[in-house]
Amino acid sequence: MTSTKPLVVANWKMHKTAFEAIAFVRELLTLDPDCRHVDAVICPPFTALAAVHDALGVSPVELGAQTMWYADSGAFTGEISPRMLLESGVRWVVLGHSERRQYCGEVDETINRKIRAALAHGITPIVAVGDTPSEHAAGITLDRVAEQTRAAFDGMIADEVARCVVAYEPIWAIGSGQIDSPEDANAVMREIRGAVPGLDRTRILYGGSVEPASIRRLVAQPNIDGALVGGASLEASSFVALLDEAQGRALSGQASM
Ligand code: 13P
Repeated sequence: MTSTKPLVVANWKMHKTAFEAIAFVRELLTLDPDCRHVDAVICPPFTALAAVHDALGVSPVELGAQTMWYADSGAFTGEISPRMLLESGVRWVVLGHSERRQYCGEVDETINRKIRAALAHGITPIVAVGDTPSEHAAGITLDRVAEQTRAAFDGMIADEVARCVVAYEPIWAIGSGQIDSPEDANAVMREIRGAVPGLDRTRILYGGSVEPASIRRLVAQPNIDGALVGGASLEASSFVALLDEAQGRALSGQASM
């Protein structure tokens, strides 16, 4: 595994102007999150990346982007390249989020190219996979998620795959308040780990209605190494509570990992 620390990633989606993002970071720094036993990443919209990077300063909280294009430059109107992200201080990138698959025509082949491009630039891809409500209802989650995972990493060698992070986000759990059970999510993660050589060494995150009150039960599962969080990451106090709970500090009063 790349790291044994839990990883908590804030996916802000299309929330916060640069001004609002700076206000979040100022409050976050005041709360002084303890990141000794957890890795923390914030993924703001593109327009706030540079401002968040500057505002974070020497904070251990790192910067991620919500997507990127695979080429270094060229005629790709509206797109952002890995080099542009690096210049803004980005070290992580979410790729293949279900909202981009659903609304922006993201497909497995481009996701695969983006993963390779991110790795080539030293940006860690957080590759999102997930089942739709109808796939969940039909009981084909394991097959569907394994198929998506294999397509995302198609043609890559195990050592490359091991440098990535995977996020399992059941689409029916995103923004619904209906979290998957930790045991069921763990079973899907186990399937993901076995789907492609190298994923036995990566961190696999759960995403979908994660709250400070639920993250600890999730990361207690053997195959769940952290969380990709939308709504509950938008307030600084809630984000800090997620970090505390993920590293098992909040209840015990001391680091347990
Ligand atoms: P919520 O935490 O708001 O359900 O969003 C999950 C998600 O899609 C994170 O990428």
